[in-house]
This record gives sequence, structure tokens and C-alpha cells, in this order.
Amino acid sequence: MFSSCFDSYRLMWPLVRLLDPETAHGLAVRALEMGLMPCAASQVDPVLRVHLWGLDFPNPVGLAAGFDKDARVYAQMLAQGFGFVEVGSITPQSQPGNDKPRLFRLEADGAVINRMGFNSEGHKASMMRLQSRHRSRGIVGVNLGKNKLTEDAAADYEIGARNFAALADYVVINVSSPNTPGLRALQGPEVLRELLRRTQAALSDGCSGKNRPPLLLKIAPDLTDADKADIAHVALESKIDGLIVTNTTIERPASLTSAHKGETGGLSGRPLFAPSTRVLGEMYRATGGKLPLIGVGGIEDGRGAYEKILAGASLVQLYSAMVYQGPGVARRVNRELAEILKADGFACVSDAVGKGVKA
Ligand SMILES: Cc1cc2nc3c(=O)[nH]c(=O)nc-3n(C[C@H](O)[C@H](O)[C@H](O)COP(=O)(O)O)c2cc1C
Repeated sequence: MFSSCFDSYRLMWPLVRLLDPETAHGLAVRALEMGLMPCAASQVDPVLRVHLWGLDFPNPVGLAAGFDKDARVYAQMLAQGFGFVEVGSITPQSQPGNDKPRLFRLEADGAVINRMGFNSEGHKASMMRLQSRHRSRGIVGVNLGKNKLTEDAAADYEIGARNFAALADYVVINVSSPNTPGLRALQGPEVLRELLRRTQAALSDGCSGKNRPPLLLKIAPDLTDADKADIAHVALESKIDGLIVTNTTIERPASLTSAHKGETGGLSGRPLFAPSTRVLGEMYRATGGKLPLIGVGGIEDGRGAYEKILAGASLVQLYSAMVYQGPGVARRVNRELAEILKADGFACVSDAVGKGVKA
């Protein structure tokens, strides 16, 4: 079944690439909503199962935030073979995001640049959709953003934690998108400590202390060594449950060849793989392997997922590879990852976590 999903997207690609990328994304979401991208369920390979935060992930390959911003198609994406889906970033109030065009394909580089700027329908719309979900059908995380004009950023994350505490399997504080002015400054130690404290309290509040979902922080790849050491220290001290490493980069590697390489925004996909995997390994070492990490940035095959796991990721995510390979990429990555794990003698994903990081 994997090959038919994959092949049908390959057949459609010449048409897809003629469309402006945001139009193509909108059509894909509509097609998924209408059930036009069916995919038969595949067998779960036991080697891929991950048990983390009291949750059973059928496989470690998740859909990263940004594709399903308003929680419209998480069920369909789970059915495409993703082990979990992260919806968002969701802002408290609806907001349009930046002016279009704001999404660019760098096809020759296997990359994407976006400056979406948190286009979001707001909390209420996503809450309504998540209220009707069958939790037994798959794991859904909620990624929280802030409205552009909110001055007390922590207040927006507090509202998000309260609103989604009983609806999400895990909650993410996203302070790493490059397209909202001032957002990444929230990664500084004092402001971060206070932000985490307030969000944790709101999360407990939102579920009356019962079954509080894990709280994760998503970080940027463009951090100094001092920033990374501070974040590791604050994350451990605050007892959050994990880090997502990393968001898109504002760097532009000299290797880029595509016409859109100079566009403002965050770069993702293949050129992000090496830098984000480096930061992942650094965060694994800095946290002594004590904090679960989700590795994201440039994964496009099973080998890429495996390298993230060796660098310290308990779970991985991808987005940009789906732009070029279609949703069948989830099954491809999983199939290849299972083969590599077995060939290297690992009985399960967790046995391989961090095995490539020198102490
Ligand atoms: C079009 C687009 C929109 C994104 N929107 C968000 C977002 O709203 N929140 C977020 O935390 N990350 C967002 N991301 C970042 C991804 O979740 C991911 O961290 C990044 O793209 C690196 O993974 P990739 O190389 O597999 O795409 C977005 C990425 C893209 C390409």
C-alpha cells in the first residue's frame, strides 16, 4: 500500500509543482477533509513502537507543526501512517498571518522557506474539532503560539494551556518561529523560567490536576552555546517533559541554489538536517539524556530518522519532505527505519536513542 500512496503523489507532482505552494497546501487539506487521499492501514512493526509519557506511539515518526495548523486533518494524517500528529501553532485569537506570498519551494535544494506568521483560526475553532476526536485512534499534540499584538506573551501560552489541557495528548510551547517579532527572545533564561512556570500552572488548572498532559518546549536551531546551556538548565530545573529540536532556521547555507533562497523566513528541509541534528546531539548531552527529545529538521528517509534517534531523539517529526514526496513519506520512513534498526541489532527504538552521542 505504501508504494501506491507514494507513486500516486509522484504521478501528481508535475501538476502540484505548477501550483503556488500555499494553494497546493490548501487543496491537499481540502482533499484530505473530503477523504480523497485514502490509505489502507499498514501493520505496525513492533520494532517501531515507543512508550513515552504514558503514551503508546505505534511508530516514532510524527507530522511536525505547521501542516495542520487548525486541527482539520489530524485523523487523516494518522491514517496515512504517522505515529502522531502535532496540530498548530494555534493562537488564542484568529489572525491572518503575514501577507502572501509567504511560502516558497526550493525544489533543487529539497527545502522550503516560510514566513507564514502564525496564520490561525484561533483556539475556539481547534478546540471544537478536538472535542469530537476519538483518543484511541492516535496521538495528537497541540502546539501553542502567541498573537502578534499580545504584549504579555506568557498570557497567551497560559490561555492555550488552560484551553487544551484536557484535549491534547501533549502540549508544546513554540518560542522558536522566526516569523513573529520578539518570539525567539522568549528562549532567554529568566523569561523562559517564568513562561514555563506560568504555563505549567495553567496546564494543571485546565485539567483539574488529573492526567496533566506532558509539556514540551520547541527551540530554534540558531542558538549560541550559552543559549543552549541555559535552555537545558531551565528545562531540567522546571521539570518540563521534553524538548522539540528544532524549528526552521534563519541561516542560509552557501550550498542553496534555488531562485527563492533569498526570501525572508524560516528555512526547512534537507539543508536543515545537519544543523538541527547537531543541536539535537548537543541538547541530549547538555540534559544528560534525562529529558525526552523530539528530533525534527530535514528528515526525508529512514536513514535520516535513524540519525536523529542516534543523536538523542526518542521520537522524530517531519514536514518539508511531505511537500516533495506526499503523505506516503510516513510509511516510507517507517519501513526503512525498521529495516535499519533490525540490521543494526536494535530490538526497539528506545535502545538506539543517543547511541551516537559521545559522553
Ligand atoms: C510551511 C511551514 C509552516 C510551519 N509552521 C509551524 C508552526 O506553526 N509552528 C511550529 O512550531 N513549527 C512550524 N513549522 C516548522 C516545522 O514544524 C519543523 O520544525 C521544520 O519545518 C523542520 O522540519 P522539516 O525540515 O521536516 O520541515 C513550519 C514549517 C513549514 C515548512
